Amino acid sequence: MAFPETRLRRMRRTEQMRRMVRQTRLAVGDLVAPLFVRGGTGLRNPIASMPEVAQMSVDCAAEECAELEALGVPAVILFGIPDTKDAHGSETWSDKGIIQQALRAIRERCRELVLITDVCFCEYTDHGHCGVIATDRRGQPVLDNDASLENLRKQVVSHAKAGADIVAPSCMLDGMVKAIREGLDYEGWTDVAILSYAAKFASAYYGPFRDAAESAPAFGDRAAYQMDPANAAEALREVELDVQEGADMVMIKPAVNYLDIIRQVKDRFNLPTAAYHVSGEYAMVKAAAANGWLDERRCALETTTAIKRAGADVILTYFAKSIARWLSA
Ligand code: PBG
Ligand code: ZN
Repeated sequence: MAFPETRLRRMRRTEQMRRMVRQTRLAVGDLVAPLFVRGGTGLRNPIASMPEVAQMSVDCAAEECAELEALGVPAVILFGIPDTKDAHGSETWSDKGIIQQALRAIRERCRELVLITDVCFCEYTDHGHCGVIATDRRGQPVLDNDASLENLRKQVVSHAKAGADIVAPSCMLDGMVKAIREGLDYEGWTDVAILSYAAKFASAYYGPFRDAAESAPAFGDRAAYQMDPANAAEALREVELDVQEGADMVMIKPAVNYLDIIRQVKDRFNLPTAAYHVSGEYAMVKAAAANGWLDERRCALETTTAIKRAGADVILTYFAKSIARWLSA
């Protein structure tokens, strides 16, 4: 049957009709809130390029987590800003490290909240790269993949001890998931899950995050380890390898420019799939809304619904708290 018997507008007439046939329903249970944790007490340092996001001291982060938990947000992902940086990012595996302190403090306040830690080195190294730097054949500085894996093992074991439920490596090292699984299992942390940033693109949209996490590289860029935005087939290979190495969940990052990748990964591997709606994607909406050019709430809900429609089961977004409020209102 075709027009005039078929009229698709019939089912769009009222909000209740639209609600009834709505295919994708964004839920607060889909969301993960990213948090930036630093030293000190009572601190909430705003981040200019990310309105309403702040670097928080451990006590404030724990307070924030209690609010998120009360709003029904199931999980947070923690990023640390250390007091001191060095060539290896050794604070990442210190039991007194900022993430380790935050994990213990948050767990005291929140019984159920899922605690995810971002696992990388760029916030902790004085050069701002995601691991150990070595010199290549031409005398150029390069990220030493295998030496960095050793440090990664130490980092995840330390996070597990401090209470992480899920570790999320974001360094795009080859073999990172295998190294982490082995490291955790060897120490008995068989129930700590791995959310791999499997397909992480070398994106311009991480700009505001690097202000927030104070992690901009001191020289060069991350193009030699993060993926070329033009490559889809390679993204599937990245995911396939991480699945083989034991990833429990995989992530595509950023989200909006990579909806095609999210869909392909979900269809091909059918495992819990996360997408990171990154700092630049957040900042764009916030900036346009501040100018009165876009409606923040409608844009945030439309975008995150689209990310879910593309195939994401889990969405990491700086809008998590706002969305939790909007959905419950
Ligand atoms: C660090 C890391 C980055 C993000 C998450 N973990 C940035 C980077 O690669 O510089 C970006 C998150 C965002 O932009 O919101 N490896
Ligand atoms: Zn990094």
